Amino acid sequence: MQNIAQHWDTVYENKPVEQLGWYEAQSEYGLSFIKECVPNIKERIFLAGVGRSTLVHELLENRYNNLILNDISSIALEKLRIDLAESMSPSIIWHQADLGQKNTFKYSSE
Ligand SMILES: C[S@@+](CC[C@H](N)C(=O)[O-])C[C@H]1O[C@@H](n2cnc3c(N)ncnc32)[C@H](O)[C@@H]1O
Repeated sequence: MQNIAQHWDTVYENKPVEQLGWYEAQSEYGLSFIKECVPNIKERIFLAGVGRSTLVHELLENRYNNLILNDISSIALEKLRIDLAESMSPSIIWHQADLGQKNTFKYSSE
């Protein structure tokens, strides 16, 4: 039986991003919500279960660079790094961890 991380890795390995049921080409509420709640673009923002969300692109375009991008799936995070390409920011912290578990955090800023 697959564990949770394997389940999500399989999803991100096998499906094009546009075919994910929750895919949004442009975030409907995410960016405006963050702009309202976090007007200072220098504040650190933690995105839990970020997947390959286009919200990350929108945040970077709006100069929100101080991001911690979490997901349980290392495949999702790898693909998100590729998606970001030139818009990648060195201040992004990559955080592959199961938020349902204690003491499983692995940090990487590379
Ligand atoms: C429905 S998807 C949404 C992805 C993204 N937020 C978006 O809007 O495109 C749920 C995401 O949560 C991640 N996830 C599920 N359980 C998790 C956990 N326990 N810890 C961290 N991430 C988790 C999955 O890998 C997946 O990327």
